Amino acid sequence: MKKTVKDIDVKGKRVICRCDFNVPMKEGVITDTNRITAALPTIKYLLENGASVILMSHLGRPKGEPKAEFTLKPVADKIAELLGQEVIFADADKVVDDAVRAQAKALKPGQVMLLQNLRYRPEEEKNDPEFSKDLASLADIYVNDAFGTAHRAHASTAGVADYLPAVSGFLIEKELQFLGEAVNDPKRPFVAVLGGSKVSDKIGVIENLIEKADTIIIGGGMAYTFVKAAGYPVGTSLCEEDKLDLANDLKKKADAKGVKLMLPVDTVIADKFAADAKSKVVDIKKIPEDWMGLDIGPKTAKLYADEVRKAGTVVWNGPMGVFEFEKFAEGTKAVAFAMAESEATTVVGGGDSASAMKQFGLEDKITHISTGGGASLEFLEGKVLPGVAVLQDK
Ligand code: 3PG
Repeated sequence: MKKTVKDIDVKGKRVICRCDFNVPMKEGVITDTNRITAALPTIKYLLENGASVILMSHLGRPKGEPKAEFTLKPVADKIAELLGQEVIFADADKVVDDAVRAQAKALKPGQVMLLQNLRYRPEEEKNDPEFSKDLASLADIYVNDAFGTAHRAHASTAGVADYLPAVSGFLIEKELQFLGEAVNDPKRPFVAVLGGSKVSDKIGVIENLIEKADTIIIGGGMAYTFVKAAGYPVGTSLCEEDKLDLANDLKKKADAKGVKLMLPVDTVIADKFAADAKSKVVDIKKIPEDWMGLDIGPKTAKLYADEVRKAGTVVWNGPMGVFEFEKFAEGTKAVAFAMAESEATTVVGGGDSASAMKQFGLEDKITHISTGGGASLEFLEGKVLPGVAVLQDK
């Protein structure tokens, strides 16, 4: 167990708090504030308990240079609106300079400032000790609450903990609790639903979950690599030819462990990758040449949804089809609704699956939707997240 902000005295202290404010933006406007609202409990706790708070985050991938489209100014405005108080925006291209140091020093308890995008500096992603020290010099305590970036060993997520007492915020605490319990102490049967386009992205997750789950459901583009590996034609569907042996090995491993690995029995195929493509449902063993599978079929959707309904715990990562196109959203919808209706502990591992839940308006019916895409994936792979490893143990 990691220490949290509740395990230390923050009164009168300057606290530098790493959040993941890497939010989607369109023409300078934030289109989803989820990651900001998820950080508020920690920020409010620190302020209410007499700390002054220096927030920091990255936004996008400006590759070590100041770029106007990646400024955190809209985030500062949104936090101010949500907190109902001023957020001083330290708009420095160098992130930390003399003016920012003076601003941090002048902060009074209950005040908040936000640093400029950490990735304006190349040192951030290099986990450079001098930059880490520079960040640490602004504060007395380091809090990491950026679950979405906890899989990165950067200056603000790892390095800074070498120079300050380091504890977790409530978001990281909550994410570790829900994801951790689901994977390591699940109510059974434990069903893992894995989709997305590539087997290669999910090898680690499948391998780790073969050790823990009762059933692994495979959908999405990666299913066609398993189908081809089993000896059936996949037309122009996504298929990783160099992963066919691996797909067979994973299937064998699951069988040997007594884990039920479910593959589609039918699929919705399309004549092109487009929302208005011609489509039809075929048996999974009969995908014609020149057609591509873009969703699981209705029989598969029913089988998968039934399995989800019988579960004690469901962890979902990766859509079942191209749900962004209405015609090919039914499989993903079936799994999402089955999760929403089930009594099981349901956990969605961020990224596309979280967007799907949002698109279907089911977010409130899920036990936990992770704010981390890559981070939750690495967690499900059983990896230690560097941004968590650096925090003090209880
Ligand atoms: C995310 O959105 O997954 C995190 O903010 C990490 O972003 P990155 O993949 O650019 O490191």
